[in-house]
Amino acid sequence: MSVKNICCIGAGYVGGPTMAMIAKKCPHINVTVVDLNEARIAAWNDEDVSNIPVYEPGLSDVVAEARGRNLFFSTDVNSAIDIAEVIFISVNTPTKMYGAGKGQAADLKWIELCARQIASVAKNDKIIVEKSTLPVRTASAIKDILTHTGSGVSFQILSNPEFLAEGTAVEDLDSPDRVLIGGDDTPEGQEALRKLVDIYANWVPRDRILTTSVWSSELSKLTANAFLAQRVSSINALSEICEKTEANIAEVARAIGTDSRIGSKFLKSSVGFGGSCFQKDILNLVYIAKSYGLNEVANYWEQVIIMNDHQKTRFASKIVSTLYNTVNGKKIALLGWAFKKDTNDTRESPAIHVADHLLFEQANLAVYDPKVSEEQVYNDLDYLKTRERAENRANLQVYLDPYEACKGAHAIAVLTEWDEFKTYDWKSIYNNMLKPATVFDGRNVLDIAELKAIGFQVRSIGSTL
Ligand code: NAD
Ligand code: UGA
Repeated sequence: MSVKNICCIGAGYVGGPTMAMIAKKCPHINVTVVDLNEARIAAWNDEDVSNIPVYEPGLSDVVAEARGRNLFFSTDVNSAIDIAEVIFISVNTPTKMYGAGKGQAADLKWIELCARQIASVAKNDKIIVEKSTLPVRTASAIKDILTHTGSGVSFQILSNPEFLAEGTAVEDLDSPDRVLIGGDDTPEGQEALRKLVDIYANWVPRDRILTTSVWSSELSKLTANAFLAQRVSSINALSEICEKTEANIAEVARAIGTDSRIGSKFLKSSVGFGGSCFQKDILNLVYIAKSYGLNEVANYWEQVIIMNDHQKTRFASKIVSTLYNTVNGKKIALLGWAFKKDTNDTRESPAIHVADHLLFEQANLAVYDPKVSEEQVYNDLDYLKTRERAENRANLQVYLDPYEACKGAHAIAVLTEWDEFKTYDWKSIYNNMLKPATVFDGRNVLDIAELKAIGFQVRSIGSTL
């Protein structure tokens, strides 16, 4: 029998967009996304679809098409579990901040809670799909919890990691490079796997739907993120050499990227990578390697994080050293707070680290981001607990107008590659700044020649131009 009801636990950056796309492409399936967070569910249900809690280009159209037809958002987790034949788990799996594995292991508290809730509610057989990113072999823990209920209900666990990137989620979901599904090599496991393949096959060509064992699938997700992050750290490591040698990182990236074995994507040097996953997933990989005594493997991957931390600190230190070794009381405008363009997500954004560093140096910061709220900026800084909340508010202001943010500033640091930054009237920004006026382009997005012609001093990543 084909699947008629799907439920997804977790209405976040993955659960919301992923389920909206399944609902759009499969009008014959009812999709219910549930979450404990009432405000989040209310926002997904907001009459004005532009108020949904995740900003992604094109997402509000997808939601508008399916919501109320076969896409539903609810806080009634039990009812949704009860009715569904397939249950996706798409809850957060952050780095554990206490006890064994603190600072490295994935905190699977929310995954376990979901498994226990499913175990207590389910009255008929279910397919459980790991959508969250999980340490390899998590499925065995989930299975353990589910099979000890004594209810006689049979559960199949599949791994179906998500590869969408924020900012391009709709595009990535609409036309994925591949969909990965791992299942048990038993008749029941293979039957469950086929049912999930059939759902994706409504819009994804079958040759792009890869099937593997559960363990390979779980490990492939951590591996994909580790490889991607490693490319960014590799190019950033080279950017520092470029700054010493007058080589230009954009030229080096183009030169190596044309080798088809290397490829041209993901070679943009920057102030460092951010986002909720790269760091946590590599730390998780490091933890897994260490737990098997594979110390060389752990050290190898840990270096990707060490390099990224270095890049963020190096960028912030350069601002201080360029501004005559003191930024005390100087206004510095930070353009961009999100971890990348086209998203309102700020988790692990390099902007947070750079701002924190500059606040330690007693700078006066002016932040502008087209999609991030003042409340979010302060929350991000308060979360670090590096100073009093009042101090964060006294020394950092959030602006709604980039020109106001830059007025009277000694310097501007570009921390997110928002396209709109390229379109600003840089002459007028220059006229309203203190001189010398310096731009630190942490994303290499601005036209250096144009800025220099106006009179700016420019410092970019990986070049001495
Ligand atoms: P998120 O924090 O945005 O959303 C998770 C949601 O789950 C939250 O709204 C939370 O309230 C809810 N939740 C937690 N426990 C719950 C429970 N027991 N019952 C009901 N709801 C519960 O997280 P996210 O960014 O969507 O990431 C989810 C998972 O997907 C993570 O494992 C992450 O690593 C992975 N992932 C994320 C991305 C991304 O781009 N953000 C991409 C691929 C994979
Ligand atoms: C990343 C992966 O690309 C997704 O495949 C994966 O599903 C997701 O993590 C996840 O598991 O959460 P995401 O973090 O949303 O997606 O965005 P990316 O485009 O990968 O960018 C991550 C960070 O690296 C950003 O801060 C970005 O600015 C930075 N980056 C990326 C660079 O500095 N240079 C580059 O060339 C590319």
